[in-house]
Amino acid sequence: MNSKKIFAANWKLNKTPIESEQFLTEFKNQILGNKNFSETKEVIIFPSAFCLDAVGKKTAGTEILFGPQNISAEKSGAFTGENSVEVAQSMGAKAALIGHSERRQLFSETDLLINKKIKLTQSLKLIPVFCIGETLQQREANTTEAICFAQLEAGLAGADKVQRLIIAYEPVWAIGTGKVASVEQVASVHLQISKKLKAMEFFNFQLLYGGSVKPENAKELLQVPHVDGFLIGGASLDPISFAKICQA
Ligand code: PGA
Repeated sequence: MNSKKIFAANWKLNKTPIESEQFLTEFKNQILGNKNFSETKEVIIFPSAFCLDAVGKKTAGTEILFGPQNISAEKSGAFTGENSVEVAQSMGAKAALIGHSERRQLFSETDLLINKKIKLTQSLKLIPVFCIGETLQQREANTTEAICFAQLEAGLAGADKVQRLIIAYEPVWAIGTGKVASVEQVASVHLQISKKLKAMEFFNFQLLYGGSVKPENAKELLQVPHVDGFLIGGASLDPISFAKICQA
């Protein structure tokens, strides 16, 4: 099982292929001096679909993994405008981000669709990085745990329990808002998610936290039990700040 800390960058709708390459050049420079970097840390980059090829070429021969931020639930065929996970894999992608709250909220993705995407990803042996999390309203109504459990149950229905799985717990109210969840909040939800996954007979998983992770709060959050790494949006756009988080 993977015991490395995971640092996943979600670039969202940012960066051109050239900017992606520049990022990776600088990021590689930043971590160069860190001798056992790849023995202790795993980096996954999620660029926009148009930059996958550039990121694939630039990370070839390195231990940096990458993948799409979203995939079609269909493998191939007459689905105009969709992005194929199989094509991403042909470019070297090893993971796929699935069910990000922006996909759920802005593009009406349902649990059922997300479940289909997870199963398709697994059928190709890519690692699903499956996002879950509650809105502010749901937290205030004390339903955080129920929401996360329901998302896990629906998203993972019929999924392969043996393959590696990464879950990203991202409270929606902490994404891009600068409002990071407290250490106590993260500890409590991560413990519950971990227990829930084991009760569902998933054992080969890592749990990431996401939501306003920055170089300033990374160290503290990384020490929280059951936090195996981060999914980072805003602070992953700058190679220096991303490298700082990886070295926290
Ligand atoms: P943020 O985004 O780090 O900018 O809050 C996290 C995410 O959306 O995955």
